[in-house]
Amino acid sequence: MRVLVTGGSGRLGRSVVATLTERGHTVTSVDTAPPPPGTEGMIADLLVTAEREDVFTRARPEAVVHLAGIAVPFASPDLDTLSINARLAWAVLSSAEAHGARSAVAASSPTVYGYNTPSWRPRYLPLDEEHPVTPWHAYGLSKAFIEQTVAALARTAKSCTMTCVRPGYVVAPEEWEGAVTQQGHTIAERLADPALAATSLFNYVDARDAGDLFALVIENPDRVAGGQVFNAMAADPLAPGPVDALLPKYHPATAEHAAALADGRAVFSSRAAREALGWNPARTWREQVPAEVRDALERR
Ligand SMILES: NC(=O)c1ccc[n+]([C@@H]2O[C@H](COP(=O)([O-])OP(=O)(O)OC[C@H]3O[C@@H](n4cnc5c(N)ncnc54)[C@H](O)[C@@H]3O)[C@@H](O)[C@H]2O)c1
Repeated sequence: MRVLVTGGSGRLGRSVVATLTERGHTVTSVDTAPPPPGTEGMIADLLVTAEREDVFTRARPEAVVHLAGIAVPFASPDLDTLSINARLAWAVLSSAEAHGARSAVAASSPTVYGYNTPSWRPRYLPLDEEHPVTPWHAYGLSKAFIEQTVAALARTAKSCTMTCVRPGYVVAPEEWEGAVTQQGHTIAERLADPALAATSLFNYVDARDAGDLFALVIENPDRVAGGQVFNAMAADPLAPGPVDALLPKYHPATAEHAAALADGRAVFSSRAAREALGWNPARTWREQVPAEVRDALERR
């Protein structure tokens, strides 16, 4: 398929472009930032109508993976985060339908669940796609808006199946080896200090595994429902052991349900992707981090 990836120069986008290419798709990456060295991509601001139209006209996508946007809570002024993410989603996804794409998928985020406020209280654990979302910061709200945008456009889309994927804390291949992650620390530091991973409820996903799910979603529009949302997290938590005791330490309101995590499962369930598409994240932190990181954790 001809696939357009927005935000293709980004942390997740680079792996999604590589995964789709490996799977035999003809990929066009578009971003305001240049593509990584040795790769090709269009440079365009997708919020500028003429530039967006030019991208879609030239790429003629049969499928669109929409990743572009402000990707981190509190990274930009709130009004920018809300406005840019919301407008980009509407613009890109409606262009996908208008230009004849058969499927389009947008990146949402687990932050839509609304954790990290004292009032947040999960109804049950693990958190699956049925669990209510209660965003509180501008980034989480912008992602909830993106999910609603997908659902809204899916109601009238004639030929394009529109869905959302919520990747966990994305770990790119070089980050397993020690490169700094999205939050400015390494994976070894995140594993050694539970306070760091606790802010995302210990979720993570290898960028290549997330890439596989984005690929499966666009390759199988007949197996997904318009407006459907898929969690995309590793099956285990980013912590040296089960988090049934650790999670309530940082999020006391989870205590009531935390026993469900005693077998070492993640705080989030990606059941919908497994059931609809057979997606099982292949990579765990235990196999990806260098041996010395694993050994140091075991000695503690
Ligand atoms: N990295 C994570 O842990 C994570 C977790 C959950 C969801 N997500 C979502 O996945 C997507 C990708 O995340 P990422 O970590 O690769 O972020 P990133 O910041 O590395 O990449 C986003 C890219 O979008 C581009 N962009 C922004 N505005 C644009 C515009 N107007 N036109 C064209 N390009 C534009 C940026 O230049 C950037 O390269 C985002 O939507 C993010 O919210 C990421």
